[in-house]
Amino acid sequence: MKAEQNQLITRIGPGTPCGAVLRHYWQPVALVGEFNPELDPHMALRPVKAVRILGQNLVLFRNQQGQYGLLDRDCPHRGADLSFGRNEGDGLRCPFHGWKFDATGQCIETPAEPAGSTLCKRVKQRNYPLLERSGVLFGWFGPEGSVPPPFPALDCFTAPDSHTFAFKGLWNCNWLQAFEVGIDPAHPSYLHRFFSDESLEESYGRQFRGASVGTVDGQLWPMTKIMREFGQPEISFEPMPYGMRLTALRPMTEALTHVRVTNAIFPHTFVIPLSETMTITQMHVPVDDTHTYWYSIFTSFADAVDRETMRRQRLNAVNLPNYIPKSGKHNQWGFNPWEQNSRTYLGMGEDDINVHDQWAVESMGAIQDRTREHLGSSDKVIMANRRELLKAIETVQAGGTPPGVADPAIAAQRVGPETVDGIAPAGEWTAWWQQAVQAKRQGAPWNASLKLSDETHEASI
Ligand code: FES
Ligand SMILES: [Fe+2]
Repeated sequence: MKAEQNQLITRIGPGTPCGAVLRHYWQPVALVGEFNPELDPHMALRPVKAVRILGQNLVLFRNQQGQYGLLDRDCPHRGADLSFGRNEGDGLRCPFHGWKFDATGQCIETPAEPAGSTLCKRVKQRNYPLLERSGVLFGWFGPEGSVPPPFPALDCFTAPDSHTFAFKGLWNCNWLQAFEVGIDPAHPSYLHRFFSDESLEESYGRQFRGASVGTVDGQLWPMTKIMREFGQPEISFEPMPYGMRLTALRPMTEALTHVRVTNAIFPHTFVIPLSETMTITQMHVPVDDTHTYWYSIFTSFADAVDRETMRRQRLNAVNLPNYIPKSGKHNQWGFNPWEQNSRTYLGMGEDDINVHDQWAVESMGAIQDRTREHLGSSDKVIMANRRELLKAIETVQAGGTPPGVADPAIAAQRVGPETVDGIAPAGEWTAWWQQAVQAKRQGAPWNASLKLSDETHEASI
């Protein structure tokens, strides 16, 4: 790839072509949990957060009615930082000269001005549309005054709160390389390889520790065993209204094939199976060109999610309140050569595979130099996604809309998507995985999206 192309697809600040593409989509801004005083005691006193997203500095606050306001952070008076503002319940007051703003950004007081001044009526700070879904606050950063697109009806947003759990973490790298690890069906056989399997009973909430759907000679197989033993997946992808459906086949015997179906939702979300009944929807939102927050929404198609367990597992790896990983370049991501020698392929722990991906994406450097890489046929999805991104940039530059947004008909098709990790009869894997998906949906206590999902199949096959 040429240096200019790499620049084009990675830089996302205001005024950049790729930034203009990303500004067509709702973006995760914060977890609702970031305002929970049990997780961040400051929030009991002062529910205000500094937020940086797409290279823009913002302030997010909650008023006493429970409404959130997301405003540009520089005070429209003389530019002081509003994230240090006084939250007075009905607005946020700049401590420099006391100008006060409500959740819509309207200035409601300018106390140093002479009595009778109407200056505040003419001052409005830019605010950004916000909505809350599945424990995440999403903002929209399109041109001021334009109408945000409809929100997609993905499973992670249609499942009831009891069946979802959201978490996040910071990676010190560009958003695109962060996303590209998630749409790379070859890497789990290597990066996440464990030399031995654990009891399936201990697998709750842990990626690859559960069993694949189906059996071999009546035995359940942990995903770790399949990933370890079959390292040359046959990878294919098909275009979908939301992006791409990815299929990785690992032929196991004459009679059996392992099928893993995952999804790339344009521009930066993947959906993968965590277990037979749970999926992970992970978004990669740029903080700026060299930092990215991943947001994961875990969605259960069976029992309510055990949030306490899920949260405890993940809080081990980050420091609050900003979800900064405890491992990173500063401590070699916890690298242990003895572990690499005897227990895992990478040597960075067996409890949380997220740090494996973090190493992969951060060790490339803040923005991967794609002029130096050599792609193989197992990188075909990465290549297809970059082509799609370049095309979307051209489309937006020509005044058009990028894939999967703005048209309500298309937004309504952005449902599901389907995922599976299972062992299928070799000749019938296509029908097999679709049946597995149907069974999973029928078993879900919140079966609302089944019909829409069927329509997606029809539209795409
Ligand atoms: S800079 Fe904020 S009130 Fe003056
Ligand atoms: Fe991974």
